Amino acid sequence: MGDASTNGRPETVEIPPETGVPVPGLEEAGLLLDVDGPVATVTLNRPERRNAMTFATWRGLAAIGRSLPAEVRVVVLRGAGPSFSAGIDLGMFSGEGGGLPDGSDPEAADRFIAELQEGYTWLRRPDLVTVAAVHGHAIGAGFQLALSCDIRVVADDAKFCMKEPALGLVPDLTGTKPLVEIAGIGRALELCLTARTVPADEAARIGLAETLVPRDGLDAAVRDLVGALLAVDAGASAATKRLLRQAAGNTLEQQSAAERREQIGRLRDLSAR
Ligand code: ACO
Repeated sequence: MGDASTNGRPETVEIPPETGVPVPGLEEAGLLLDVDGPVATVTLNRPERRNAMTFATWRGLAAIGRSLPAEVRVVVLRGAGPSFSAGIDLGMFSGEGGGLPDGSDPEAADRFIAELQEGYTWLRRPDLVTVAAVHGHAIGAGFQLALSCDIRVVADDAKFCMKEPALGLVPDLTGTKPLVEIAGIGRALELCLTARTVPADEAARIGLAETLVPRDGLDAAVRDLVGALLAVDAGASAATKRLLRQAAGNTLEQQSAAERREQIGRLRDLSAR
């Protein structure tokens, strides 16, 4: 897709036909996409439902990830209205939007969930830095969306809750790994298995918020962060994100080797300029 917005108006994202997935337009997905040069802003846009998410939302997010212009370096995710997101649209438990799979065909259910997870996994791509601007409630799938981003800027009215276990489910939108990495296994267990609500000040204390700001300072804080991210060399940014993302899973020896490899690439790039 060459141009994701026209005069500031979001357009339907084009889906590569080979995916074979009937992905609806962004409006139906409850999403707005604005692309301004190197910055894409994705707005969860069902404020009357507190930005509750449907299968269409997750497919729409995946479609955005596949369709972003190559010049985009920073993606901001935000919510319209009083909340970041109230998580899965509870109507889906009663069959709306096709309903949840019943698990009787494990392979089909696995494929189905994997397809939805794609809406979250692209946020970890090294060529992008992804920023969640969180205010109000971030519940369940909404909390996991914030966890999938590289950096969370959090307003002081934010409230996080991993509600899935209270509903008989597990968090399956790729949130368990970053939650454990950020908060540690004990805190992750406590938060998930009580499904309690974490206020913004505690979120900042346990590492869920990189920056905590007053509600009316959220947009300015995100703007400042985006400016600082764009001021750093794009190639070095991508290489450093690749390194940092693999650090926890590597031995010191593996990580040192990865640093050397990335640095050689950087040196080659710098000397060719
Ligand atoms: N699914 C569908 N509709 C929702 C959802 C949701 N997840 N959350 C809110 N809404 C709707 C409400 O039904 C209400 O609709 P109405 O105006 O027709 O009555 C409207 O959005 C506003 O909601 P309120 O509850 O009035 O708003 P308030 O700001 O007081 O509370 C809150 C917001 C805390 C988010 C509350 O709505 C809530 O607890 N929602 C359910 C959250 C939830 O359990 N999500 C599932 C998580 S698990 C997962 O994501 C896998």
